Amino acid sequence: MGGKRWLSKGILVFSYLWLGWPNSSYARDTIKPGEAVRFSEQLVSANGLFRLGFFSVRNVNYRYFGLLYMEDTFSRKVIIWVANRGKPVIGTTADVTMDTNGMLQIIHQDGDPIPLNSKDQAAKNSSATLTDSGNFVLTEWNLDGSAKRVLWQTFDYSTDTLLPGMKLGENFQTGKKWSLSSWISDRVPAPGAFTLEWNYTENGRGQLTSRIVYWTSGLLNVADQSFENIVWLRDDYYRDIYNFTVVSSETESYFTHSVPNGNMTILVLNSDQSNGTLIDSDKRVFGPSGLCNGIDPNPGCEAERAPECRSSNEKFESRAGQFVGGRYLSDGNMSLGFSDCWAQCWNNCSCAGYNASYPNGTGCQQLGVSFGAPRQTSNKIFPVLRV
Ligand SMILES: *[C@@H]1O[C@H](CO)[C@@H](O)[C@H](O)[C@H]1NC(C)=O
Ligand SMILES: *[C@@H]1O[C@H](CO)[C@@H](O)[C@H](O)[C@H]1NC(C)=O
Ligand SMILES: *[C@@H]1O[C@H](CO)[C@@H](O)[C@H](O)[C@H]1NC(C)=O
Ligand SMILES: *[C@@H]1O[C@H](CO)[C@@H](O)[C@H](O)[C@H]1NC(C)=O
Ligand SMILES: *[C@@H]1O[C@H](CO)[C@@H](O)[C@H](O)[C@H]1NC(C)=O
Ligand SMILES: *[C@@H]1O[C@H](CO)[C@@H](O)[C@H](O)[C@H]1NC(C)=O
Ligand SMILES: *[C@@H]1O[C@H](CO)[C@@H](O)[C@H](O)[C@H]1NC(C)=O
Ligand SMILES: *[C@@H]1O[C@H](CO)[C@@H](O)[C@H](O)[C@H]1NC(C)=O
Ligand SMILES: *[C@@H]1O[C@H](CO)[C@@H](O)[C@H](O)[C@H]1NC(C)=O
Repeated sequence: MGGKRWLSKGILVFSYLWLGWPNSSYARDTIKPGEAVRFSEQLVSANGLFRLGFFSVRNVNYRYFGLLYMEDTFSRKVIIWVANRGKPVIGTTADVTMDTNGMLQIIHQDGDPIPLNSKDQAAKNSSATLTDSGNFVLTEWNLDGSAKRVLWQTFDYSTDTLLPGMKLGENFQTGKKWSLSSWISDRVPAPGAFTLEWNYTENGRGQLTSRIVYWTSGLLNVADQSFENIVWLRDDYYRDIYNFTVVSSETESYFTHSVPNGNMTILVLNSDQSNGTLIDSDKRVFGPSGLCNGIDPNPGCEAERAPECRSSNEKFESRAGQFVGGRYLSDGNMSLGFSDCWAQCWNNCSCAGYNASYPNGTGCQQLGVSFGAPRQTSNKIFPVLRV
């Protein structure tokens, strides 16, 4: 089965491929010790909105085990959680097994098993269920059949997507932090440049931070449900959609949200092409409108180091064409995304333009030469510095 990764109205369309499809009469939402989710199977939440299984992105040979949201009304299909972000598996014989001690692992042909939970988060009498809220929860059970404790859950190991009920923040006793990190690019789920963290220093302040870009939402005013730097949220209409809550105690501090009208909201910390903005299912942006580049006057962009050679009216634009001859630097580091590359170029006074090294958006080429119009044989797109 083929499909597309969308946010509503198609702002982000990432194609992915399910590697199996559940026979609906056997669809289940739970696995128990001794059982497995086979390569060609999926777990399906009771309401049918969430599915867990193996998929690939853009038909590449790499397989990921993860959770997808399926919205029939708009045919929205969103990858909301990935177990093996930086460790894709190859081949068609991978399984996720739950051993008799309750350990969940991706078993694959060419490497060590990839654990989902740790030994401390496993118990013999346990089961893992994909819930209707999009959480895959491993629970330990008492003799009388009641729940003893939650051992592990995907809500505690979020990737780039925030669903109602998920937390951003920190547990001071365990040291556990809840944060989001973007994909490197729309084809590479490994953690990229942007992270979203909850900074609780002043009665709770949420801010977007990254290796290179720095943005803050400004203080959350819980009483009127607004952030200083997110102007559109002040509209009364959004109070019916988002209910933001801050929980702060000696043991933990976190930000979470619920959706009073019961509709699902999906907040995705976008990968590089969208500059690490947090975007909801209706394309509303919780973040700066462009890249905070150190001299950006956008609300929430922190004034950061801008090299003396750069001025405030400089920006990069995507242009069709090519660079001819001249100096050139290629960094094949596949952990670098587009915004990392922008930063390298921005901070290098002899850099005139940049591009990814590979078609999947990783690596960085810096170019220090003038720009030529596209030739008939070449209409390659280069994001290029305008002076
Ligand atoms: C294991 O859990 C089930 C509920 O799933 C419960 O009925 C049973 O008593 C438990 N067994 C033990 C040994 O705790
Ligand atoms: C990205 O592309 C490079 C070059 O084609 C390839 O070696 C690498 O495996 C790709 N990474 C992923 C995660 O697809
Ligand atoms: C949190 O915000 C304050 C300003 O309110 C800032 O001084 C501090 O550096 C921030 N902390 C982190 C970890 O970003
Ligand atoms: C918002 O969430 C808080 C905490 O969960 C809850 O007490 C409150 O009733 C909610 N408000 C609305 C309007 O749903
Ligand atoms: C909630 O969902 C219903 C349909 O499921 C839709 O008609 C309604 O407009 C949605 N409300 C909001 C505020 O998004
Ligand atoms: C990302 O940032 C760059 C540089 O500021 C800008 O040209 C581009 O339009 C931004 N893209 C989006 C989707 O905001
Ligand atoms: C590759 O890039 C990442 C992200 O910037 C960095 O942490 C890592 O050290 C780089 N690796 C090498 C070999 O330079
Ligand atoms: C520049 O990057 C785009 C997107 O990855 C790619 O299509 C194009 O081929 C690249 N150009 C070169 C010269 O690598
Ligand atoms: C700066 O960019 C130029 C032109 O691409 C390149 O030759 C040089 O190696 C770069 N310097 C650094 C430190 O990245």
